[in-house]
Amino acid sequence: MSGAGAGGAMGQAGEVMAVFAQRPWAAVSDAEMAAGLAVPSMLSREESQLYHWLGRSVQGDGATVDLGAFAGGSAARLLTGLAQSGRAHHLHAYDHFTAGAAVWARFLAAEPVPEGDHNDILPLVRRYLAPWRDHVTLCPGDIRKTRWTGGEIEILAVDAAKGSEVADHIAAEFFPALVPGRSIVVQLDYLHAIQPWLCAQMVRLADHFVPLAQVAKDCVAFLCVSVPDAAALQAARTDDLTDGALMKRVREAAKWHGPMIADDRFKAMLRKIKDNPGVRLSWQMRQATGGGKTA
Ligand SMILES: C[S@@+](CC[C@H](N)C(=O)[O-])C[C@H]1O[C@@H](n2cnc3c(N)ncnc32)[C@H](O)[C@@H]1O
Repeated sequence: MSGAGAGGAMGQAGEVMAVFAQRPWAAVSDAEMAAGLAVPSMLSREESQLYHWLGRSVQGDGATVDLGAFAGGSAARLLTGLAQSGRAHHLHAYDHFTAGAAVWARFLAAEPVPEGDHNDILPLVRRYLAPWRDHVTLCPGDIRKTRWTGGEIEILAVDAAKGSEVADHIAAEFFPALVPGRSIVVQLDYLHAIQPWLCAQMVRLADHFVPLAQVAKDCVAFLCVSVPDAAALQAARTDDLTDGALMKRVREAAKWHGPMIADDRFKAMLRKIKDNPGVRLSWQMRQATGGGKTA
């Protein structure tokens, strides 16, 4: 991203797109992000590389926001990069910071596994992120109740939009703080069939965001080219869409993203919506009722 010259946000967009087309994060070695990799995470290796590279490439002193930080792994990967950026930096990590026994056993296996469904992982997160403690604010609680008052955001990493309501709230609260031509939004599970509200949201914001790259299987990075106003954010809402309206938006998104993203990813979303009428939470989407066909 560094090197995007002066000029309008759209002019910068061309430069940023050219940089992303080279996929420079692929060159990030495990050694470079070793401290970050030491923190448990659900991120894939390429997503980890992207996070590190994004942190390293910040151009200004805006905040980095990690929505859905879980045990701090995504934050740690961003922070290893930010620490190498030479810029003033601060990361705000949001999550419930709780884990049920099954998730704990799978992702935090090195820690003694408790029994309950809502075990506090904040003490673990504080320990894991101790190397960067002066550069991190932990924000525990429900993101749907969060207000953002922290000024400009340069990197917005979204891994908590597991329902349409929280996705709408994230857009309404955090997108107004983005900087045109500079801020990157990473939608981590954007192409996951059980989160169709994400592409339905972003396609309505197509005047404000440029898709930059698909990373690993499900992640898509965007550049903000203009800040959506309240009316645009209202028009992009997804929580109150009927299934038919949601599917229409998914089809629009397939056109918007072609040929960068394969059409069958959107077809899988359409099938999920058909199989799960009215469902707007990803964990409920998993319980498909049948083998519905693409609309
Ligand atoms: C896929 S995990 C995040 C993984 C993490 N980025 C990592 O590196 O391991 C999704 C996270 O979103 C959080 N989340 C989902 N909805 C949320 C909400 N409404 N408020 C706060 N956290 C939420 C969950 O607690 C969970 O930790």
